[in-house]
Amino acid sequence: MSKTKLELTWIGKDKRPKLEPRILLEDPAKSYHAKHRVTEHDQFDNKLIFGDNLLALKALEQEYSGKVKCIYIDPPFNTGEAFENYDDGLEHSIWLNLMRERAQYLYKLLSFDGSLFVHIDDNELAYLTVLLDEIFGRNNRVSIVTFKQGSATGHKSINPGLVTTTNYLLIYAKDKSTWKPRRIFTSRERDSRYSQYIENFDDNYSQWRHIPLSQELGRHFGVPPRQLKKFLGDQYEDKVSDFVIENAHRVIRTARPDYKSVGQAVRDVIDASKLNVTKVHLLERQKHSDMYFKDGERFLFYKDKLKEIDGVVVSGEPLTNLWDDLLSNNLHKEGSVKFPKGKKPEALIKRIFDLATNKGDLVLDSFAGSGTTAAVAHKMERRWITIELGEHCKTHVHPRLKNVIDGNDQDGISKAVNWQGGGGFRYYSLAPSLLEKDRWNNWVVNKAYNPLMLSEALCKLEGFTYAPSDSQWWKHGYSTEQDFIYVTTENLSVAQLQELSDEVGGEQSLLVCCTAFRCKADRFANLTLKKIPKMVLSRCEWAHDDYSLSIENLPQMEQPDAEPEQNDLYDM
Ligand SMILES: C[S@@+](CC[C@H](N)C(=O)[O-])C[C@H]1O[C@@H](n2cnc3c(N)ncnc32)[C@H](O)[C@@H]1O
Repeated sequence: MSKTKLELTWIGKDKRPKLEPRILLEDPAKSYHAKHRVTEHDQFDNKLIFGDNLLALKALEQEYSGKVKCIYIDPPFNTGEAFENYDDGLEHSIWLNLMRERAQYLYKLLSFDGSLFVHIDDNELAYLTVLLDEIFGRNNRVSIVTFKQGSATGHKSINPGLVTTTNYLLIYAKDKSTWKPRRIFTSRERDSRYSQYIENFDDNYSQWRHIPLSQELGRHFGVPPRQLKKFLGDQYEDKVSDFVIENAHRVIRTARPDYKSVGQAVRDVIDASKLNVTKVHLLERQKHSDMYFKDGERFLFYKDKLKEIDGVVVSGEPLTNLWDDLLSNNLHKEGSVKFPKGKKPEALIKRIFDLATNKGDLVLDSFAGSGTTAAVAHKMERRWITIELGEHCKTHVHPRLKNVIDGNDQDGISKAVNWQGGGGFRYYSLAPSLLEKDRWNNWVVNKAYNPLMLSEALCKLEGFTYAPSDSQWWKHGYSTEQDFIYVTTENLSVAQLQELSDEVGGEQSLLVCCTAFRCKADRFANLTLKKIPKMVLSRCEWAHDDYSLSIENLPQMEQPDAEPEQNDLYDM
């Protein structure tokens, strides 16, 4: 029996598009930056790209492979509605194919210490997990976070059965062994088990007396403890929390340590505290916090539970894989753009960047939607690239980011990061295909290409870095310090090529891309001569503009011709 690997198969899995590496065209009228610097860290090196993300990711591949620290994507979930004209098997296959292609490029773009966060609902979660396991390796799957994005209210709660209130974040590291997430804490409700208060904290610890917290609260607010709830009304929890946080060094709970699992020094103090029950006993420790015991019970202090989150001291606990604290009541207002159903809370993206990035890191979202990721990245001083295919790239993402840069967006995470504006971005669209068919059905260079675009496109196709030289007209790009590329639509004569060869000299080499040349291709040792467009014809799919996830643009899948022969069903 042949060796098989565990994998997900689907119709058309082995059909891979050969993508054209397009160049990106900046639209200077839409690029935008602040009128003056706001801080030292203002980020200008950002890209908003209008177009299909598969072609855009291919366009970014050469420059950005291995450079992106964190990717968040929120692709259209594969809901039945979008695929109503396809039968069930095909709809999943098409979606998986489209996601697989994108995921392959995302993987390449990630840095060795980078990570991917994919937002997905329960419809495709299982399939996407297996697919991404194949690309990233199962070992590099970090977690599946459950994100609470709604409540069981409104019309969806009327039907019988389960109300969906959650979706998921699939997290992968490029290499889990080198991925270093930051330690994050989330704010939690007050822990009411901490219900004792050290009355005489300023006395020597051995004399400490603790009383019920409610007794001290009663004294503080000037009412009998039993009337506290009535007296404070709706503000009860907030007021008690504030008091506990302010007095966290003297609010405690007691806990009986597991005698068998502690060291001898701790046991000795426990024993001593049981012999002399009126006193508090202290165990001083070098590397850890001191321990206090009374009558065999340890004091646990509320101050050890406090964390500073976004500049505010709160009760905190380490981040778990349940994110149920990020529901935003003002989500519809965030970014001042309407994007019903699709828009995600800025706080969610902030948490991801807090966890997986530092200031100045490059982040990417190839399904921009209303532009949440870029807006958050900008406010958090990360560099960003975002891609959107829909017209809302112009009507939503663009104005939202301008607003952020102008410092006018004070919603979302702005207050938490004290956002004041600044920085900028460049706006790009994808160039049209380099080649088009003429009226005789031959591939020719697209008329929309000017010489600069042609030169940049051929650099990309040939793996050269586009860098036109100011001093040497024939240096349009380089692959090494000695190897260059020259692109021209001219028909080059022997005399012209001789002149070029002399200029290049014996120490350097030059790839010459031209329409035609009038000598043998190997005549000049330091020149490699190639003809446009013949040299690139078989390189990729030309004039294919739409790899989008929108169903009307998808090709019809080929149906298998006939039933397979019995023998074909076995691996011979
Ligand atoms: C669920 S929304 C993302 C919402 C976003 N996270 C936010 O907070 O606003 C998905 C987006 O992906 C875009 N999209 C779908 N297919 C695309 C493609 N092939 N290339 C680029 N964008 C695409 C859709 O137009 C849509 O705006």
